[in-house]
Amino acid sequence: MEIVMRILTGDTPTGRLHLGHLVGSLESRLALSREHDCFVLIANVHAFTTRADRPAEIRRDTLEIVRDYLAVGLDPDRVTFVVQSEIPAIAELTVLLAMLVPFQRVMRNPTLKDELVAKGLVDRHSFGFPLYAVGQCADILTFRAELVPVGEDQLAHVELCREIARRFNLLYGDTFPIPEARVGRVGRLAGVDGAKMGKSAGNAIMLSDDSETIRARIARLPTTRQSITEPGDTNGVLFQYVRTFLPAERADELADRYTRGDSIGDGTIKAEVAAAIDALLAPMRSRRAEYLEDAPLLDLLRDHARRANAIAGDTLARAKAAMGLAF
Ligand code: TRP
Repeated sequence: MEIVMRILTGDTPTGRLHLGHLVGSLESRLALSREHDCFVLIANVHAFTTRADRPAEIRRDTLEIVRDYLAVGLDPDRVTFVVQSEIPAIAELTVLLAMLVPFQRVMRNPTLKDELVAKGLVDRHSFGFPLYAVGQCADILTFRAELVPVGEDQLAHVELCREIARRFNLLYGDTFPIPEARVGRVGRLAGVDGAKMGKSAGNAIMLSDDSETIRARIARLPTTRQSITEPGDTNGVLFQYVRTFLPAERADELADRYTRGDSIGDGTIKAEVAAAIDALLAPMRSRRAEYLEDAPLLDLLRDHARRANAIAGDTLARAKAAMGLAF
């Protein structure tokens, strides 16, 4: 039997989850959650780094993301959902860990830098913005996670977490496992226009989208040739989707015909991809419909917060004792 590992991963609630989340990380979470001790964190405090003026939206998105998790098939009896703001130990550990990392090191984090540029926050971000990177380390370490399944863009954060954990262990004695990142089968699924997939960019397929929306979005995948007898390029977005959503054999066959210009039209391929995505998402749409009410969801989250706080409180007590802070 395989050894059971502690796993933690999460998402910032910025709206519903999309296909990029599914193939980048949700699928691997789902597989891992069947064998391991899995925590999935909703980073609602981090959402305030960019939307402090919209608390109602953050609250709504927090519940929507839990619906997405349930829709994907994460089993609430096996997986613990962690609403970040419900776990005081995370905030306390964030402050303690922040002492162990130079501010310049945090600011060198490429994911942080990219986000500052993308969000237009370069000279006007809050104090809390860089703190969130340390907060993410606290998310992981509070649960003493050994494995962190994430999309490629999160690797820099996990690297920071490993550095801070090593430093803590060195200074105060062995307290935290050094967590490892694991990227899903598709590191970065492009949006249907070829740019980074994002809800706000309007180029994403959301897990809750209906068949018609899926078809319309897939129809927007860029076409680069004039005729179906012209040899096509299989390194573009269209074929990223083909390889991601069609069975490998079929993808190879299509790629072969496409490269030879063997009368296979982009429209035909897109229709096939759209149908495959629709078949993948259909059961998720129906599962989502079972969780429309807020009240049972809130009950579930309170129950999970109790489980999570038991572990988090224990870790914090150990960390404080190691630091000579147990009075
Ligand atoms: N920063 C992650 C994102 O935006 C969310 C996140 C917060 C996270 N804490 C985490 C992911 C801990 C993995 C582990 O997607």
